[in-house]
Amino acid sequence: MKAKTVVLLIIAMILIVGVTAAVENKGAERITLAGDKSGKVSFPHHRHQDVLVDCKICHSIFPQKAGIIEELKAQGKLVKKQIMNELCTKCHREKKKAGEKTGPVTCKTCHIK
Ligand code: HEC
Ligand code: HEC
Ligand code: HEC
Repeated sequence: MKAKTVVLLIIAMILIVGVTAAVENKGAERITLAGDKSGKVSFPHHRHQDVLVDCKICHSIFPQKAGIIEELKAQGKLVKKQIMNELCTKCHREKKKAGEKTGPVTCKTCHIK
């Protein structure tokens, strides 16, 4: 390969990597989730991304779309409190038990009236 071709290839690779990184939509920094009569839940989304890194921990259960948890509950594809019990509080409890930094485990520290 000619030196010029190699340089062009390198530039193309840098551009592709840059564009892919910019395209990933990390969603809102903080998301307000509905909690029916118990009150709303203020969820620090980016903080979880920073700590947990793997998006699939949550997004293998529901897609990356605003309002999707309530949508799936309305369709009967998610049971009420399923995300809360099987995802949020489950992880917080496990981390608490392991003595690691964690999130809320009591109703009123998560639900705000
Ligand atoms: C600890 C759980 C959790 C992790 C980990 C997580 N998310 Fe989310 N994400 C949520 C929740 C909860 C919602 C809101 C769903 C709803 O509104 O019903 C959401 C919504 C979204 C949305 C749509 C809403 C918006 O603001 O645009 C995008 C995009 C998204 N996430 C991207 C990501 C990416 C990318 C990662 C990994 C870098 C990630 N998420 C990691 C829980 C998580
Ligand atoms: C870590 C945060 C967290 C804690 C702690 C928590 N919740 Fe939740 N709760 C949520 C989230 C997120 C939702 C919405 C998703 C779902 O329904 O799974 C929710 C949903 C609910 C709902 C509405 C379900 C529906 O659709 O009608 C009720 C009621 C509720 N929680 C009560 C409680 C009670 C009672 C406690 C304490 C025993 C509690 N929550 C503790 C996060 C939490
Ligand atoms: C796999 C583990 C895991 C899952 C799943 C998870 N969390 Fe957390 N959460 C954490 C950890 C770890 C922290 C502490 C982060 C820190 O201190 O930087 C945290 C912190 C929080 C806080 C911050 C409390 C404060 O000090 O401000 C809230 C609120 C919270 N989580 C709510 C939720 C809700 C609601 C869900 C479900 C949609 C959820 N979490 C799912 C691990 C998890």
